[in-house]
Amino acid sequence: MPVNLKGRSLDSLLNFTTDEVNYLIDLSIDLKKSKYQGLHTNNRPLVGKNIAIMFQKDSTRTRCSFEVAAFDLGAGVTYIGPAGSNFGKKESIEDTAKVLGRFYDGIEFRGFAQSDVDALVKYSGVPVWNGLTDDEHPTQIIADFMTMKEKLGNLKGKKLVFIGDYKNNIGHSCLIGAAFTGMHVTLCGPDSYKSQMRQEVISECEKLFRLNGGSLTFSNNKILAAQNADVIYTDVWVSLGEDYSLFEPRINELQNYQVDMAMIRAARPDVIFLHCLPAFHDDHTIFGKDIKEKFGSKFPVVATGAMEVTDEVFQSKYNKAFDQAENRMHSIKAIILATIGY
Ligand code: CP
Repeated sequence: MPVNLKGRSLDSLLNFTTDEVNYLIDLSIDLKKSKYQGLHTNNRPLVGKNIAIMFQKDSTRTRCSFEVAAFDLGAGVTYIGPAGSNFGKKESIEDTAKVLGRFYDGIEFRGFAQSDVDALVKYSGVPVWNGLTDDEHPTQIIADFMTMKEKLGNLKGKKLVFIGDYKNNIGHSCLIGAAFTGMHVTLCGPDSYKSQMRQEVISECEKLFRLNGGSLTFSNNKILAAQNADVIYTDVWVSLGEDYSLFEPRINELQNYQVDMAMIRAARPDVIFLHCLPAFHDDHTIFGKDIKEKFGSKFPVVATGAMEVTDEVFQSKYNKAFDQAENRMHSIKAIILATIGY
């Protein structure tokens, strides 16, 4: 049956079918080729449409991807930043959603609670795109699996290792993406994180693995986890919106889970490294410098300011995180186009 996503929201990827997720990945690849050929300049299917992009947390990739994708498609964009609206403060989410739904053909939202996205979906009456919540980062995951497909071809049976704070939104999203594409995913980190995973997500993914192939395993040993890996993926140890005070306990918990060359060498020779970015791989950021000065002598693993990945890996040929970042724009274009329709 042909896929038709017109009018749908991308609130959680788990509300989509396997065919729908793979359709979005393939449409993203097609739109990238189309942009490279310059075809987007004479085909702007969303002229006359407008979207709002609302951020309760800062963003580089997601914001710019929505803006460039909308411009390429011919749609107008309104950016509402963390301090730019009374959303949730002096005006309820319900009322804001009802207002925005009168103005716009689609709404992107980055915030904290998944229930805020659910309220926007319920009350706006237009497609809502989850630009990151505490639970999930679904637009990121379409870009990630698009990147894997570009680099690896067919994803069925390939091995993805997500290492580090796998109980976070990206860890869950990697699991969901693997379940839709039939990949074997290993979540690698401290044993104590396993019980902090959202069990309902694991149950849904187990059903998808039975349908699509692939599997979920856990590991507390990065070298063993890396064996036969096609993809090694990590994220920051303290996520966007989490408190700075969490750095020390997280470094303590995750010091054995930094992606380094030993881990890369334990994987397949053609392994790729992915990171949703921004990454702490050196001391060229205020936080990286601060972490190095405060904790470098106590925890040698962060002595250079690198945390989740060494600079050696980040600067190596294995790192495809910038292709992945570019793909945010192509995949978000696919998501906007497919759900607003033309
Ligand atoms: N990966 C990601 O969501 O990047 P931004 O926070 O810059 O949007």
